[in-house]
Amino acid sequence: MASHIREPIISVLGHVDHGKTTVLDYIRSSVIASREAGGITQHIGATDVPIEVIEKVCEGAIDKDKISIPIRGLLFIDTPGHAAFTNLRRRGGSVADLAILVVDINEGLMPQTIESLEILKQYKTPFVVAANKVDRIHGWLKNVHPKKQNPHALQEYNNKFYKLVGDLSIKGYDCDSFENIQDFSKSVAIVPVSAVTGQGIKELMMMLIGMAQTYLKDTLDVSIDDPGKGTILEVKETKGLGTTLDAIIYEGVIRVNDTIVVAAREPIVTKVKALLRPNALDDMRDPRQQFKSVKKVIAASGVKIVAHNLETAMSGGPIYVGGTELVESMKSEIGEVEFVREESGVIVKADTLGSLEALVKILEGEGISVKKGSIGKVSKHDIIEATAVANDSKYEGIVMAFNAPILSDAQTLANDYQISIFSSKIIYQIVEDYEEWIKKEKEFDRKQLIKCIATPARIRLLPNHTFRQSKPAIVGVEIEGGTLHAGCRLMKEDGKVCGRIRGIQAGGDSVEEATLGQQVAISIDDVMIGRHFGEGDVLYTFINEQDMERLQAQEMSDNEKDILREIKLVKKNKKKRKNEI
Ligand code: GTP
Ligand code: MG
Repeated sequence: MASHIREPIISVLGHVDHGKTTVLDYIRSSVIASREAGGITQHIGATDVPIEVIEKVCEGAIDKDKISIPIRGLLFIDTPGHAAFTNLRRRGGSVADLAILVVDINEGLMPQTIESLEILKQYKTPFVVAANKVDRIHGWLKNVHPKKQNPHALQEYNNKFYKLVGDLSIKGYDCDSFENIQDFSKSVAIVPVSAVTGQGIKELMMMLIGMAQTYLKDTLDVSIDDPGKGTILEVKETKGLGTTLDAIIYEGVIRVNDTIVVAAREPIVTKVKALLRPNALDDMRDPRQQFKSVKKVIAASGVKIVAHNLETAMSGGPIYVGGTELVESMKSEIGEVEFVREESGVIVKADTLGSLEALVKILEGEGISVKKGSIGKVSKHDIIEATAVANDSKYEGIVMAFNAPILSDAQTLANDYQISIFSSKIIYQIVEDYEEWIKKEKEFDRKQLIKCIATPARIRLLPNHTFRQSKPAIVGVEIEGGTLHAGCRLMKEDGKVCGRIRGIQAGGDSVEEATLGQQVAISIDDVMIGRHFGEGDVLYTFINEQDMERLQAQEMSDNEKDILREIKLVKKNKKKRKNEI
């Protein structure tokens, strides 16, 4: 069986506008100038850069003796946000072999950078950080080593660089300047670059080659005559061709006339009509010239696939060369992700399989259960499902929509049933909003609950503050601990229950509750001051066993916990005395 060393697939990811595409553009443009050195094919979303070009970018700095695997080139994948990247990673777990995390050094870690980090961690993808836009640092001398910049620029650079190192370390990554990296498996290299001036790009490439040698020895040797396997990057209308697929073939070969199975809710079995690869870069501007038809494509490669019936294809999903016999295994592969798991949990919607997977993974990492995840718009059905969850598990009866629109009838239904929908284009926003919401809901519920159950409090009657002796008694008290609210019954230090708080006044106003340190006036039913208890006495709230249990399920402050302990002790002592008698 014939095999060859395929190109390492390298995803470029990071926060929006941090310069992912520009980094690739810099490499590409240096390539146009060196067409004779092997030229370049810019695939769809993927740029195949032959090794000769990399060598040229590296200005002869690659030490050939140190290269143990003969890499033919690097296949770069430009990602808009992170979604495409996860899609790629998903298939077989190893579609993207390495990654460049582009961070604008002037902005540092941003939400999508953090999201990208999260994904890199989940898939254990080795990566290098490109600290981009160094040329924007005030007073930066173009293409001059950071250490040789003037003191002000160096200072600013150092501040930003170490902030980045610090922030990455908080995220659990031990990073250092690439010049100090001895072992790629221990630390992540940061390379200062400017995608505009080209500074650092050479070093970035060298890091990648080095990492490929370290990590990819065994993964790159793939068959070239096995049936192809790939991942759908995008499902696209192409003028004159109908719906087409932009895909990455990461294993084997795909040929014109091959039967393929394509990911869809109901997997599509169809025949490859044409395989298109874009022409060299300088032709790209002319839409008619854009693609060149090829007979076959060997991994690793980007390709546009033309075939019938692709309308329902699912971006992020797999694509296999082969016939109907593969439909079932594809179904189960998609199904795993599409219809998730738990008995109870939140309902998740996303636009692609990859983004769905990313969201579900991150939620699970946060300890949030997912009942069901699927692709598409938020529909009435999803709301009904969330309502069912809410019946049993209030805080989980919600819908999360990542990059997924909400149908208007679904929104109406959600309003009617008071089902919250958390919708955003940023995963972390969704998670944050949801967690914030839970906090608020819990606090609200606690307040509601506390209205009907007793809370632990210790109070002392203030001297000379008996305003009325009985019916109801009105006295001034200080809250020595815990939280007091109207409705609570009172208990003396010997455990004897007497009286019930009718109301609380602070500064002349009626209040719901009073807490540690406050002095308030309370009205008490069913007691007479001087007979049941008097000024200077300490009283506790009485808490029955049922409320005790309910309280323990609530979040309480340390102080409330202390008072609760005292109350338990008072009750226990009373019981003991009673038994002794
Ligand atoms: P998305 O694809 O939208 O996520 O953005 P991106 O990360 O691909 O960013 P892109 O490459 O489109 O760059 C965004 C802007 O930053 C463009 O205006 C670039 O010209 C500019 N830019 C990128 N790299 C550099 C750099 O190193 N220096 C300077 N000065 N500008 C840069
Ligand atoms: Mg871009």
